[in-house]
Amino acid sequence: MATQDELKQAVAQAAVDYVAAHVPAGSIVGVGTGSTANFFIDALAKIKDRISATVASSEATKKRLEGHGIKVLDLNEVTSMPVYVDGADEITAKLEMVKGGGGALTREKIVAAVADKFICVCDESKLVGTLGKFPLPVEVIPMARAYVAREIIKLGGQPKLREGFVTDNGNVILDVHGLQIADPAGLETTLNGLVGVVTNGLFACRGADLLLLATPSGVKQMAR
Ligand code: A5P
Repeated sequence: MATQDELKQAVAQAAVDYVAAHVPAGSIVGVGTGSTANFFIDALAKIKDRISATVASSEATKKRLEGHGIKVLDLNEVTSMPVYVDGADEITAKLEMVKGGGGALTREKIVAAVADKFICVCDESKLVGTLGKFPLPVEVIPMARAYVAREIIKLGGQPKLREGFVTDNGNVILDVHGLQIADPAGLETTLNGLVGVVTNGLFACRGADLLLLATPSGVKQMAR
């Protein structure tokens, strides 16, 4: 029986194989954040001469990429990127996701927005019928924390401040418990409309385009 780390490693290698096979040589690759993304970075290092550079979705990812001698560009220097590869905390068969368990949701969403294709890399524990069991992260400007928390309660969620955590952008995270998200794109839009919210961890308005899912019987592909 494969361990969860072995599954993450297998799916990370499948994503690198995908990049090697489908992405034109000399491309820029967007790179996500988290333990699965870390395995992707380590595998990407083996084909680093095939790509020209990367864009990182967090300071931690930037450090790991540079540790492998992989060039990291500021997103403002980049006009297009064929793929963005990242994990998720939950994903549905429609490829809508909850992300931000590592707190990097805002930069992840920004880098993903520039990429042509979002490739999600997960082990099968992340595939769910309905999003919301994993607390939904919401990045908030610090002075708006209490206001946004009150508004989220009105929407039926139970927000909890992520104690002792500051995002790469200097903000705080409210993790919203108790949601059963029937309309992910609707809730994503509603939350983003609250003054003081920077972004939220629903990736539904722009979900993944391809899911590489690690299972004990191999890596499966699901496309939208
Ligand atoms: C980081 O903020 C998250 O969005 C991660 O992409 C997500 O939490 C998946 O992380 P793991 O691969 O560590 O489960």
